[in-house]
Amino acid sequence: MRSSLLRAAPAAAALLAAASGAPAAPVTLHIDAHQVAGRVSPLLYGLMTEEINYSYDGGLYAELVRNRTFQDNPQAPEHWSLVQEGGSQGAMALDRNQPLNAALPVSLRLDAAVAGAGRRVGIANDGFWGIPAKPDTTYRASFYAKASPGFAGTLTVSIESDEGGIVRARAEVASVGPAWKHYTVALTTGSIAPSAANRLVIATDRPGTVWFDLVSLFPPTWNNRPNGNRVDLMQLLSDLHPAFLRFPGGNYVEGRTIDTRFDWKRTLGDLAERPGHLDDAWHYRSSDGMGLLEFLEWCEDLHMQPVLAVFAGLTLDRQAPPVAPGPDLQPFVQDALDEIEYITGGASTKWGSRRAEDGHPSPFPLNFVEIGNEDQFDRKPGSYDARFTQFFDAIKAKYPNLNLIATAKVTTRQPDVQDDHYYRSAAQMESDTHHYDGTNRAGKKIFVGEWATREGVPTPNLGAALGDAAWLTGLERDSDIVIMSCYAPLFVNVNPGGMQWRTDLIGYDALRSYGSPSYYVQKMFNLHHGDQIVAARADNLPTRTWRPPRPRGAPAGAPLPPPEQEPALFFNATRDSRSGQLFVKFVNPTAAPQTVRVEIAGAGPLAADGLAVTLASAKPDDTNSIDQPTKIVPVETRLGGLGDDFNHTLAPYSVTILELHPRS
Ligand code: AHR
Repeated sequence: MRSSLLRAAPAAAALLAAASGAPAAPVTLHIDAHQVAGRVSPLLYGLMTEEINYSYDGGLYAELVRNRTFQDNPQAPEHWSLVQEGGSQGAMALDRNQPLNAALPVSLRLDAAVAGAGRRVGIANDGFWGIPAKPDTTYRASFYAKASPGFAGTLTVSIESDEGGIVRARAEVASVGPAWKHYTVALTTGSIAPSAANRLVIATDRPGTVWFDLVSLFPPTWNNRPNGNRVDLMQLLSDLHPAFLRFPGGNYVEGRTIDTRFDWKRTLGDLAERPGHLDDAWHYRSSDGMGLLEFLEWCEDLHMQPVLAVFAGLTLDRQAPPVAPGPDLQPFVQDALDEIEYITGGASTKWGSRRAEDGHPSPFPLNFVEIGNEDQFDRKPGSYDARFTQFFDAIKAKYPNLNLIATAKVTTRQPDVQDDHYYRSAAQMESDTHHYDGTNRAGKKIFVGEWATREGVPTPNLGAALGDAAWLTGLERDSDIVIMSCYAPLFVNVNPGGMQWRTDLIGYDALRSYGSPSYYVQKMFNLHHGDQIVAARADNLPTRTWRPPRPRGAPAGAPLPPPEQEPALFFNATRDSRSGQLFVKFVNPTAAPQTVRVEIAGAGPLAADGLAVTLASAKPDDTNSIDQPTKIVPVETRLGGLGDDFNHTLAPYSVTILELHPRS
């Protein structure tokens, strides 16, 4: 079997010819529902997530204040500006001499030298590319503050427009004393138009000095969690009905150095005790507001299983050797054991009781733990084998029922599951839809833990969605062995500078969000399948010619591999064993309509009426965007004339799912 593990986008594969036109004989799909090839994995469709592209800060994590603890840049309070009006005079600076505590060692000092009525001095935050203000909405602002002795001013907290200072919502803190104290106010908007060109301002009209830390602003969140998630993004995720969440990475779990890995113990508890860390995998600082407990609550909110990735000694600094197996690695193995105990342990265990203290007395379910991320990049012979073995033995000794996932080949232990990653062009995806057909069914299971057709920026276009859909027909057909899959990356903030990795499933700015065509493919596939994989084969399948790219690592001048014939139509069939419904999926990646005759045996008499769910558009580079969020969405059509022998015409550039019902 050819190996297709690709880390980054390959050079685009050249399609040498479009579909060869209408085939000489009609395409006939034969489905035999008697022949059940296996069970569709109930875990097949899940989510993969990490702090990349402002996925949490500036994304799902609903915090609206950017650089809330003033640590993003040691030189200057980035994203903060000084407010001076009507001749007032003031200054603003980072202050390391008045820390809130050891975890948050820098505060922001505001000196109001000249201030009075109509002459305020304050600090303003510009948020993550703006601060959204929606009508009739209550925002919760909070901050730590202390003032110089004798300060007698009130603090006015407001959400204001960038231009013209139009106040969207406003509240007051009556007085601030000389010791650090936490203040919270509610800011409620009226019937305003939604806008994002706003800032949060905290100001005084009296002279004096005030220090601030952990300045925060939250909109209403999903399930009203106080440190929770953005509602529109959670809704998009919830609509996918994901079975699991793979977290916290990706490269984010590793970091470039051991110190910048995802160190879960530093992400727990009160926000004022979380130092945050540099996400040097993706080049910005993470507040760690999305900490271990928040990941788990996210799973709980969307009824997803956690798939926990633990740091396993390999960092992204490829010059640095991975942590050596043996005593050096043992603290990280212990960290993983502690983390599993935090998630699953009872109140009598050390880490289970810490979880209860953090606000979640009941343990979370946990069935899968992944040892590292992409450890094929550990080039030291035998190194991952030895590291995996050390983790495997320690975890299995304490938690024998946990399924352990390997991220690269190992030979010294049999992992329960192997994680494979694929980032490819649409043509490559379409050329490899039978990738797992020949995989040994008696061995480890497969988790396709990261994959995407990387065409389209910032989010995939229709052509990518067609590549994705073709690939998914294969994963679903092989989902007796491919038990889990998740697209990556999940999120991108579409503002300039928001994207570190192009082609991401869901895009958003401060106010709006949208699903890409690939998002809708995920949704269609997960909402329309049965629990049995049934036999399906085609006669006269159309083909087209494509030229595979040079193999990875081949010298630039090496000859291209010869052209190959690949299918120009993709399909699979599944059946619901309880209802008898059949789901037939088709992908037509060509510019021409394709008519398929569908002949079904073994499904009992089928009704003439059924449902077609179709995603299509005129051109492969058509797409959804922040300004055209629903240009390409699935359309449901009631059909007649179906049954166990019928013709159906697939639109050009389309994904179609036919739902066929037993005759009642
Ligand atoms: O999904 C983006 C990155 O691709 C992941 O962080 C990493 O695991 C992979 O290389």
